[in-house]
Amino acid sequence: MSDPTHAGKPAAPQKTLRSRAWFDNPDNPDMTALYLERYLNFGLTREELQSGKPIIGIAQTGSDLSPCNRHHLVLAERIRDGIRAAGGIPMEFPVHPIQETGKRPTAALDRNLAYLGLVEVLYGYPLDGVVLTIGCDKTTPACLMAAATVNIPAIALSVGPMLNGWFRGERTGSGTIVWRARQMMAAGEIDYQGFVELVASSAPSTGYCNTMGTATTMNSLTEVLGMQLPGSAAIPAPYRERQQAAFETGKRIVEMVEQDIKPSDILTRDAFLNAIAVNSAIGGSTNAPIHLNAIARHVGVELSVDDWQTHGYEIPLLVNLQPAGEYLGEDYHHAGGVPAVVSQLISRGLIREDAMNVNGRTIGENCRDKPILDERVIRPFDSPLKEKAGFVVLRGNLFGSAIMKTSVISEEFRERYLSNPDDPDAFEGKVVVFDGPEDYHHRIDDPDLGVDAYTILVMRGTGPIGYPGGAEVVNMRPPAHLIKQGVHSLPCIGDGRQSGTSGSPSILNAAPEAAAGGGLALLKSGDRIRIDLKTGAADMLVPEEELQARRAALEADGGYRYPASQTPWQEIQRGMVEQLDEGMVLKPAVKYQRVAQTF
Ligand code: FES
Ligand code: MG
Repeated sequence: MSDPTHAGKPAAPQKTLRSRAWFDNPDNPDMTALYLERYLNFGLTREELQSGKPIIGIAQTGSDLSPCNRHHLVLAERIRDGIRAAGGIPMEFPVHPIQETGKRPTAALDRNLAYLGLVEVLYGYPLDGVVLTIGCDKTTPACLMAAATVNIPAIALSVGPMLNGWFRGERTGSGTIVWRARQMMAAGEIDYQGFVELVASSAPSTGYCNTMGTATTMNSLTEVLGMQLPGSAAIPAPYRERQQAAFETGKRIVEMVEQDIKPSDILTRDAFLNAIAVNSAIGGSTNAPIHLNAIARHVGVELSVDDWQTHGYEIPLLVNLQPAGEYLGEDYHHAGGVPAVVSQLISRGLIREDAMNVNGRTIGENCRDKPILDERVIRPFDSPLKEKAGFVVLRGNLFGSAIMKTSVISEEFRERYLSNPDDPDAFEGKVVVFDGPEDYHHRIDDPDLGVDAYTILVMRGTGPIGYPGGAEVVNMRPPAHLIKQGVHSLPCIGDGRQSGTSGSPSILNAAPEAAAGGGLALLKSGDRIRIDLKTGAADMLVPEEELQARRAALEADGGYRYPASQTPWQEIQRGMVEQLDEGMVLKPAVKYQRVAQTF
């Protein structure tokens, strides 16, 4: 068993490497010979495989189908150099591709599939440690979840964000520009050609989304969790420091195998609470609770959706990145990246400083003295962009829980919906309900819908079961006629997710979803609902007897209807997936913990 306190001290006495069971087992010459011979056929030597050098996997998430992570194909060369330099042997292998924007019906469907595949590889092959190549949204949690389950020494390497996007002298950020372009096209300011040109300007190089979307969020939080080298998360993909970080990561994983530092030594509850605090300070994605709760479930750490409000709500927004702010990934790196943000929180006692990093030191030791290098991009704790930037957890007869990112509530939104001096934290309105994104796209501009500036838009049928994987569709633009009148957003509520690149103050991740019998299934267009951000109450203003009658009628009708599965995996996952508040994990998977230790 490992002792986390030995980290950073001289290497513990060499323990038997896991890979020896394959490559050097004199008690079983038959199998040893069989395991060994095929790995020699491309030029590895017996001496290499039998000399006690750690075998290090490189879990490759980049491919032509995964452009956000494709630069890992290049970085892998420097990871290999680092592994070799430290005395290990690299073995690269592919991870099931997950491309956030390219995968239909949604990339989130594939997070658990990639997780399952990676667990099997890490468990079943002669690997002593692994480098997880992370980046695009779901690649990060898929890799960390698998490393948590198997629990062999693991270190993550971010591919890094793209360079800043520019259009006519202004920064254009991934995803965020799409919301803006949609409004401009709906208002007739640009046409189809102009739309595509504007959006494409935001992707000027290799790397992941340059906004504070789910990718930058999850890569930052992976550093805070301690699973990648300090200061490495924010380095843009094409920078030379990114390649240098790849080399250092390769070197470090070999030392981690020697010191037997495993994910369970790093992914402690303290580490997760640090990540929750930093998520507020960076203005992180509403997908973060789903993914972090999933990683916690797989490593066996208690973490609930309420922890996000308890430990995150009061933390101010310090990072001025789109969509909440102005800047982009390169600016974040130049301003000091994750260590500068952590250091600000440390100065207020908001970080559990003893949590360990893969480099063998604590987060306190790594970050305590790290300065902000550009205060326009990372604000000092005393002059934040917003106070109380965390998530609020809401509950009521609409759902068991849902979250809202209050830091992105705009002035326009506040004035229209939260301006009652007697009740400044609550709003109430009539709903229009959509069953899935197709229904929404089909009807939103229909004048008969009667959407006005005070309507609340509801999207249901978009949770892990209803829309397999959970769709990023809760933030809905208002009808074009309202946008022309200057109404840029309406309150949105739903059982799906929202892109981290969207600046909408939606109420999302509602659990249980309509397809799992949640209250949203009972809602009808024309009902009134009331949301109180202070008490966290979210209710349909429909009498209880009426709700009971609706539930009985729905059940008699066979329950809430959703489209049939189109692939085997959609059906398999639908049969065993947990709700968004529980991390959308596969129910049977979470009981398998630290499985490599059973060897
Ligand atoms: Fe891959 Fe944003 S789409 S990182
Ligand atoms: Mg996304």
